[in-house]
Amino acid sequence: MRRKVTKAIFPVAGLGTRFLPATKSIPKEILSLVDRPLIQYAIDEAREAGIKEFIFVTSRGKGALEDYFDGAPQLEQSLRKKKKTDLLAELKQSTMDSGEIAYVRQREALGLGHAVWCARRLIANEPFAVILPDDVIAAEKPCLKQMVEAYEDTGGCMVAAMEVPESKASAYGLLDVAEDMGSLLKINGMVEKPEPEDAPSNLAVIGRYILTPDVLRNVSTLKKGAGGEIQLTDAIAMEIENGSDVYGYRFDGQRYDCGSKSGFLQATIAFALDRPELRDDLMDFMIDTVAMQKAAQ
Ligand code: G1P
Repeated sequence: MRRKVTKAIFPVAGLGTRFLPATKSIPKEILSLVDRPLIQYAIDEAREAGIKEFIFVTSRGKGALEDYFDGAPQLEQSLRKKKKTDLLAELKQSTMDSGEIAYVRQREALGLGHAVWCARRLIANEPFAVILPDDVIAAEKPCLKQMVEAYEDTGGCMVAAMEVPESKASAYGLLDVAEDMGSLLKINGMVEKPEPEDAPSNLAVIGRYILTPDVLRNVSTLKKGAGGEIQLTDAIAMEIENGSDVYGYRFDGQRYDCGSKSGFLQATIAFALDRPELRDDLMDFMIDTVAMQKAAQ
């Protein structure tokens, strides 16, 4: 039987410079869509996919992120007194049991491949998931769960995949597809942020991965890749060169690039419109605002 995927790595060591000055004192993963921090969406998705061990790769200045997952006895007591059971339940979701969560530090910002490699001792010899919290995916069945189910048949390595406009493709890891089986794609190669003329396709890697521990061994042999960083894409591509199976998975769902201001705003609007208590007011506001903007043009 294939070994279950029960560990996930969350690389959260980035500086979040695109959201300065907000991220001067708050980790970007605590920035919230409506009232839930980006990291909460990532944790919920992982839990629903069967993840039991949550490994954070952090760096200096991420203390608020670690505190976020602690119990908050005073706050809980006060909510209990006021019989605010809904809020208590919300709060419970953000609390992790002792031993469920582990933190490793990335000492220097050497790239995504290096960040994931920092967790190698905690992963040991098991398959594992990687979730990039910047990529928020709204889906009926959470994206990682879709992938875990597909992985039960395929094994090997698997990356989430999505067609992106050609004009934006160079901002992603791109897939060279050997066989397109619908949701599942057999991959021939992958390349991180190539120049447009070298792009193998406009099928981009999105921030969900299921990987074998061999990928971590590959990282230790890698040279710096795109942007002068140690790239996860290169470590996975090495698996293909070594003759192992690597798959892309075209997930069902809407992905928001919450690493960009525009994507973050779109996600905020979409998630707010999904809340019955916010929907009507927000719709009225948007209709009026758009009309005023158009009239002013
Ligand atoms: C990372 C990965 C890239 C992937 C992207 C998805 O890049 O390196 O392969 O396509 O996430 O969001 P980043 O956006 O961190 O530069």
